[in-house]
Amino acid sequence: MSVHSDVKKITTHVLQEMKRNGERIAMLTAYDFSLARILDHAGIDVLLVGDSASNVMAGHETTLPITLDQMIYHASSVVRAVQRALVVVDLPFGSYQGNSKEALQSAIRIMKESGAHAVKLEGGREVKESIERILTAGVPVMGHLGLTPQSIYKFGTYVVRAREEEEAQRLIEDARILEQAGCFAIVLEKIPASLATKVAQEVKIPIIGIGAGNGVDGQVLVLHDMLGINNEFHPRFLRRYLNLYDDIKAATGRYIQDVKNRDFPNEKEQY
Ligand code: KIV
Repeated sequence: MSVHSDVKKITTHVLQEMKRNGERIAMLTAYDFSLARILDHAGIDVLLVGDSASNVMAGHETTLPITLDQMIYHASSVVRAVQRALVVVDLPFGSYQGNSKEALQSAIRIMKESGAHAVKLEGGREVKESIERILTAGVPVMGHLGLTPQSIYKFGTYVVRAREEEEAQRLIEDARILEQAGCFAIVLEKIPASLATKVAQEVKIPIIGIGAGNGVDGQVLVLHDMLGINNEFHPRFLRRYLNLYDDIKAATGRYIQDVKNRDFPNEKEQY
């Protein structure tokens, strides 16, 4: 029997038990109350209030501009919708890189002001001290390695990471460091499937992949990509489950026609 089907609330411990039992973890991003509610009712295990909100909600080219206040706004909307899923919130760019005290203060603001259950931050050994300090306050931390979009100007491109042996080796070491520091799970973004599988075998904490193949412990996608709301993004790893861009555009077109033709509202739709 699956671990998670009979639990009322997904916790970091449930996720670790799911890994031990070989049960895959399903995670999606969410940024608002209405969609988060549907995802929670559908039985999603983890909702990530990702800083991808900067792209899909605010229309920025990168994740860098989104602020801590804006992340807290999105996170509190999601938390109000959720009964069962674990809600993890990204620490945005500039809210934790300065030093571990800043990281702790940002994590505390997220937990206190949004009611979320955990935070996520990008990076390996360079954020170890911050992770340890956040954990001293009892805040669970999810790591993020591989393609880390907050460092896009350092990478210069969104291509697959860690194809070379040296970078792959460093990523494996970083995953071990994050596990030792106390992370409850790690996201691996856009790295070779064989490397991601190796990491998932070498650490005991769950590894959640995005563009990291099928040998990891769970998967995450950006909601607007998997629902086809954003129809301009076609990475190989993305599976689209709907084509909402076309559906919403067509519905809007029908509404416009009905208004222009004076078909809406009809007699039953008025007082
Ligand atoms: O911000 C985000 O949506 C993320 C996922 C891509 C993992 O970090």
